Amino acid sequence: MIKIEKFSFKYKGTDKFALHDVNLDVPAGAFLGLSGVSGSGKTSLLYSCCGVIPHFYKGDFYGSVKLNGLDTVETPIAELSKIATIVFEDMDSAFSTDYPEDEIVFGLRNFGHTKSEAEEIAAGNMKEFGIEDLRGKQIRSLSGGQKRKTALAAAIAIKPKVLLLDEPTGELDPEAKVQVFEILRKLNAEGLTIIISERNENLLRKYCTSEYTVQNA
Ligand SMILES: Nc1ncnc2c1ncn2[C@@H]1O[C@H](COP(=O)(O)OP(=O)(O)O)[C@@H](O)[C@H]1O
Ligand SMILES: [Mg+2]
Repeated sequence: MIKIEKFSFKYKGTDKFALHDVNLDVPAGAFLGLSGVSGSGKTSLLYSCCGVIPHFYKGDFYGSVKLNGLDTVETPIAELSKIATIVFEDMDSAFSTDYPEDEIVFGLRNFGHTKSEAEEIAAGNMKEFGIEDLRGKQIRSLSGGQKRKTALAAAIAIKPKVLLLDEPTGELDPEAKVQVFEILRKLNAEGLTIIISERNENLLRKYCTSEYTVQNA
C-alpha cells in the first residue's frame, strides 16, 4: 500500500536530514506503529506517506515514496488525499468548522458528496463512533477525547484506504486512549490500513500488528 525506497528528506532552510535512507513497505491491512525518540522523524514520515511532504513542506527529496502505486512527488495532493488521510497531532488547528456534525459533512462535501449524502454518511458515522451526543456542541467546548473521536470520524468518513495518525492519544486520559485504540482496531479489522505514531509503547505493542522504529537521521 505504501512503498518507501531509499528515501531521504531535508526541510527547506535546514542543513540536517529529517529522514535519512528510509526503506519501508507497508502492506494493505497493516496496523503499523511508529516508535522513535522525539525528533527522530515520525511526524515527517507520516507527512511523507500522504504527500504533505513534499507538497506542503518543501525541501530536498531523495528516493521514492509510493502510495497505492502513485508516486507522491508526481501525484497532486488532491489525488493522494483520496487514498490516505492524516489526523495531525495538533488537530485543533485542523478543524474547519464549529460543530462535530459539520466537520464530518465538510470533509465529505470537499470530496464531492451532495449535502444530503454527506449528512446521511455523517449521521451513520457519528453513531459508529459513539459521538451522536456531541451533535450541536461547539468543538472547542469538547474534551480531548471527544475532539479526537470527532477528528477520527471526519478523517475516515471519506473512506480512505490508509489512515495516518500522529500521536493521537497524547492528551487523553487512559480510558479515552483505550477507546481510541479500540476504534482503530475495529477499523483495521474492516480493512483500513493504519499507521500511527504513538509514545505509549504498551498501547503500541498491544494494538499494532507491526512496529517501525524511526531512527535519528
Ligand atoms: N517544518 C520543519 N522545518 C524544519 N525542520 C523540521 C520541520 N519539522 C520537523 N523538522 C525537523 O525534522 C526532524 C524530525 O522531526 P519530526 O518529524 O517532527 O520528528 P518526531 O515527530 O519524531 O518528533 C527534527 O530534526 C525536526 O527539527
Ligand atoms: Mg512528531
